[in-house]
Amino acid sequence: MGISTIAAVRTIPDLRAQVRAWRSQGLRIGFVPTMGALHDGHITLVRTAKQRCDKVVVSIFVNPTQFGPNEDFDAYPRDENADIAKLETAQADLVYLPTVDIMYPPGTATTVNVTGLTESLCGAARPGHFQGVTTVVTKLLLQVLPDAAFFGEKDYQQLKTITRMARDLDIPTDIVGVPTVREADSLALSSRNAYLSPAQRSQALALPRTLQAVAKRLCDGSDADAHLAWGRDELLRGGFDSVDYLELCDAEDLTPLTHVGARPARLIVAARIGKTRLLDNIAVG
Ligand code: PAJ
Repeated sequence: MGISTIAAVRTIPDLRAQVRAWRSQGLRIGFVPTMGALHDGHITLVRTAKQRCDKVVVSIFVNPTQFGPNEDFDAYPRDENADIAKLETAQADLVYLPTVDIMYPPGTATTVNVTGLTESLCGAARPGHFQGVTTVVTKLLLQVLPDAAFFGEKDYQQLKTITRMARDLDIPTDIVGVPTVREADSLALSSRNAYLSPAQRSQALALPRTLQAVAKRLCDGSDADAHLAWGRDELLRGGFDSVDYLELCDAEDLTPLTHVGARPARLIVAARIGKTRLLDNIAVG
């Protein structure tokens, strides 16, 4: 381990001063927004950003506005020191740790909403969630002003929504998608995996296993409905308590597809074990 090189800032003026100094040297700035509880998925975003940019800023902010009233905002895992140590190892250059008061001062009255893309899938299951995400990501992008920002395909609807938002609002940041990082047994890494008991952790494997099985069945171009219904049952048989959705979607605009055809398709799932809600998705065809 070398000497600590990462700087931490907690206010918008301190953040802007550091980024401005780098930009005046002609450096390209990459940005990775997170809610902390960092794992190898987040770290892969940082390493990808580091390959493509000169300096990498990572934000850690558990954003209250993207959690519903009965969701896990209070329980969400928080460990600032462990996160900073991981970011140091990954050679991030700056960590930005705003408070709720800095992000949403009293009197805040503006939100950002992307129509269409956010109304299905997780948007239907979690009302208000995407408005919380798009509002905070807009604010973070305007605070950091990065050349590129990096998001995981793990949250596929989020990635597509933010890509559309940046385009629609003429935000001059490249939105870069990064493939999902998985455990050796194929479970997608997620901060919420920490909620799973050992028994639930092994049941969770039904998620990637079922996606693979359904994708294989869909590859012959046959009608999706029966295969998707089979997949939902398979998740319940595998130990999931409920399935929010398992859908075949157009990979770009996320509209439902009846079969795999010429256009790129994505199989997307959200399902619950106990109180834990897990997401996954894969390309099909
Ligand atoms: P969070 O869940 O902390 O995720 C931060 C970033 O890490 C997101 O872009 C997410 O897609 C990516 N990520 C998570 N698990 C991954 C995995 N297994 N492989 C690759 N990337 C992965 O997503 C959020 O935070 C928030 O909604 C945020 C964008 C920060 C706005 O509050």
